Amino acid sequence: NTYENLLVERRDGVAIVTIDRPKALNALNAATLAELSKAIVAIAEDTSVQVVIFTGSGEKAFVAGADITEMQSMSAAEARNWGKFGQRVFAAIEALPQPVIAAVNGFALGGGCELAMACDIRIAAENARFGQPESSLGITPGFGGSQRLPRLVGTGRAKELLFTADVVDAAEGFRIGLVNKVVPVGRALEEALAMAEKIASRSPVAVGYCKAAANEGMNVDLGSAIAYEAELFGLCFAAPDQKEGMSAFVEKRKPVYRTR
Ligand code: HXC
Repeated sequence: NTYENLLVERRDGVAIVTIDRPKALNALNAATLAELSKAIVAIAEDTSVQVVIFTGSGEKAFVAGADITEMQSMSAAEARNWGKFGQRVFAAIEALPQPVIAAVNGFALGGGCELAMACDIRIAAENARFGQPESSLGITPGFGGSQRLPRLVGTGRAKELLFTADVVDAAEGFRIGLVNKVVPVGRALEEALAMAEKIASRSPVAVGYCKAAANEGMNVDLGSAIAYEAELFGLCFAAPDQKEGMSAFVEKRKPVYRTR
């Protein structure tokens, strides 16, 4: 492991990235964000990685936010650059060619909630707590939270969370669509791995295109999004996975896909 504040491990085709700064509840300081940035580039280039999981060290926190002690004395210009840096890193997570699952154990606040939202899917332990408490600190979210939260839960609920700084538990997160699945304490990573294994058994080409279609489609009008879907659908038929998937169906066997 070449990182100080991250653990990056592999279980078969799954890369597990653990934010490991337990003394500050895994808060993202500049050093940790820089390491995340590096790790993401390495994972994007690694064609043996089928699925990525982000989690936090220990049961208490996923990530308790950006590091408040580092931000305390920032100038406006420094804060803008810090925000842009985090936005770039989280955009790179969102744009990873592989599907990304957040296994959320404990607090996912501020930058931690933003990190979870940059992932494709969120699995939450019952002790998970989500929120964007920035308005209580005199700031707005800065790593994409003011934009990804309304896209995930709708503008009304997002604005309520942003204005009140309320923290919601896993069950409420599930109810409003922030969380895909709630699991017992201590089980988030195992459940994420089980889902990763299922995803890894599907066509990597198809899964990658599904991710691209959903991501792109959220940023453009419906007509352009639908046109993009047609392009990707067509491209599937130029890749071997469509032949394998449909032959397997007709031959009543399980498909075997090449890895990425
Ligand atoms: C720095 C943090 C931290 C953070 C926790 N710690 N969160 N340090 N930045 N975001 C540190 C504490 O200072 C403490 O250090 C140690 O972790 C343990 O935390 P405690 O507060 O003692 O634990 P507890 O009483 O159980 O409370 C847990 C908590 C609380 C409710 C999660 O720590 C908390 O409210 N943290 C801040 C959450 C927050 O506001 N996050 C959003 C940040 S703004 P010591 O040394 O005292 O033991 C943000 C903006 C993102 O994320 C965009 C930027 C551009």
